[in-house]
Amino acid sequence: MVRAAITGVASYVPEKVLTNFDLEKLVDTNDEWIVSRTGIRERHIAAEGEASSDMSVKAVTKLLDETGVKADEIDAIIVATVTPDMMFPSTAALIQDKIGATKAWGYDLSGACSGFLFALKSGSALVQTGHKKVIVIGVDTMSSILDYTDRNTCILFGDGAGAVLLEPTEDENFGVIDDLLFVDGSGGDALYMTAGGSRKPASHETVDARQHYLVQDGRSVFKRASKDMAQVSVDILKKNNFTAEDVGIFIPHQANKRIIDVAAQKAGFTNEQVLLNIDKYGNTTAGTLPIGLDEVVREKRIKDGDLVLFAAFGAGYTWGSILLRYGPSKKG
Ligand code: ACO
Repeated sequence: MVRAAITGVASYVPEKVLTNFDLEKLVDTNDEWIVSRTGIRERHIAAEGEASSDMSVKAVTKLLDETGVKADEIDAIIVATVTPDMMFPSTAALIQDKIGATKAWGYDLSGACSGFLFALKSGSALVQTGHKKVIVIGVDTMSSILDYTDRNTCILFGDGAGAVLLEPTEDENFGVIDDLLFVDGSGGDALYMTAGGSRKPASHETVDARQHYLVQDGRSVFKRASKDMAQVSVDILKKNNFTAEDVGIFIPHQANKRIIDVAAQKAGFTNEQVLLNIDKYGNTTAGTLPIGLDEVVREKRIKDGDLVLFAAFGAGYTWGSILLRYGPSKKG
């Protein structure tokens, strides 16, 4: 059976760092509150004019350099994001042009914090049906939709991009094994952006009413995220007859350290098995999972063939998990 294998990973975060102390000057908050309630200490923020395609191009360029793959060998580019450069053309098209992927097709996909999981599933299906090289990107420029006068939301998010290369393998020591993916649209009123779409196109009124910013009912999202991200992590292991000890690394979505702790505890992981980098990046939405994978690969916390468990929960509601064996990693 052909499986999609992750044969390379790279990421990029913007240079500018916004610390909790910087935020103390913008809204009524403090470092102690943010660290104790979320685990976040700082986040990276895009430069003026730096958009999701720019960050993605940085990550993909590094990925191609490191794997030795040429842009014109890419068959498809899938971009998970809720902050595309513009409504259309797609961010995938902009990236395709900027990197010179002359033979690729591609599209954007909106799954919020679970977007990378949805894109990985899609990319995996393309590989299983004949594509040889698929780039899957998770990217968000959250600073472009944050209200820096709203302390409930502006402290939580950062900007960043991560990208993986998917290639076919028939070696059962590698590749995507299984997924559990969900959408429950009844949670739509807990996390959303009011204007800028076809329901409420941009107008002077929508801008004056600050409706182009993210709105979140933090407590409702927290409750569902804690429950569902933990459950889906337990369920996918059980479904595939694995135990927590079999897992090399658990890479959970980085929205809140307390949500991650619940999931890790319920699934039975030790601290060493859990990727936690929310302190440095905050919640980069679709970026968190590939940025996390890149970190554990670079720090040699996993090696080829190790079992990786991804889990996420986000706006929609959307949530899910993907289980895979990393590699065989390609060195260019
Ligand atoms: N600084 C100081 N006080 C604050 C801040 C702040 N930055 N933000 C809120 N508070 C206050 C609130 O006003 C509230 O005060 P009140 O009791 O007087 O009303 C108090 O702190 C407690 O507020 P809660 O909302 O109950 O705080 P909570 O412990 O729930 O933490 C948080 C809030 C961090 C937002 C949490 O609810 C959370 O992480 N929610 C889930 C986030 C998430 O998973 N999002 C999904 C992914 S995002 C995506 O898909 C795009």
